[in-house]
Amino acid sequence: MQTPRDSILRGFFMTFAPMKSGAPIGIFDSGIGGLTVARAVRNLMPEEDIIYFGDTAHLPYGDKSTAAIQAYSVKIADFLLQQQCKVILIACNSASAAAFELVREYVGQRTKVFNVIDPVVDYLREHFNDATIGLIGTKQTVNSGVYAQKVAALPNAITLKSLATPLLVPMIEEGFFENKISHDIIGEYLSRDELANIQALILGCTHYPLIKNEIRDYYQGKVEVIDSAETVAATLRGFLSYHQMEKKSGAATSRFFVSDYTRGFEHATKLFFGDMLSLEKYKLWE
Ligand code: DGL
Repeated sequence: MQTPRDSILRGFFMTFAPMKSGAPIGIFDSGIGGLTVARAVRNLMPEEDIIYFGDTAHLPYGDKSTAAIQAYSVKIADFLLQQQCKVILIACNSASAAAFELVREYVGQRTKVFNVIDPVVDYLREHFNDATIGLIGTKQTVNSGVYAQKVAALPNAITLKSLATPLLVPMIEEGFFENKISHDIIGEYLSRDELANIQALILGCTHYPLIKNEIRDYYQGKVEVIDSAETVAATLRGFLSYHQMEKKSGAATSRFFVSDYTRGFEHATKLFFGDMLSLEKYKLWE
């Protein structure tokens, strides 16, 4: 019997992408928020070329079903393979939770696939024991239980407490941060019992680096704030260096594709990436 997973994988044919050190890093997200991850990658490895794909036609992923996110993610991974990316980084936490295993299976030996969850779990293994750690993210990320399973598999004694904070993405996209409204909403979420007595908080969403300072202020330095964008960028740099896959020469040339274009998305790039970017529309779906 065909499962939904089989039908997603069916119909994609292998196109071998050699892992050249000069090839771009492929990054994808549900939209523009994943540019926080692209930015962290650019800051650590300014010479590397990036091919970014934001699935703006289907955002937000945070409220979508696992099956829908899997279908979108495999198609985007295929696009990044066609672009000869030397690695694929799933910047979106919701897609990392819902689709990483399937994307990895689909990509196979053709290239290495990273998600934004495993580097954070590795960080917890290295830095915490006998600790209670908090997680905030979209409904998809939190309700998938993927973080909880991975943390439970660690040898360390770590209790994970998590809370879906779905208001934060639209709040940030509307430019409400570092103001009274964001202060109140963040305070309301972080004071919930679900996050009581934590030693560190994982920012499990592409958008949250923009409110990192407000979250730090809330905890007044008593809780470590773990930024998954920075953590995965550091992991990626370590991987490229270990495998001698770093770009050796030439200025960086990056391209930023979206599945649906609006001027609003283009303006939002400044918010998430720091610089205003030119977005290219790429019709991945009919
Ligand atoms: N990129 C998503 C994530 O990190 C947030 C936005 C969305 O829901 O699509 O989970």
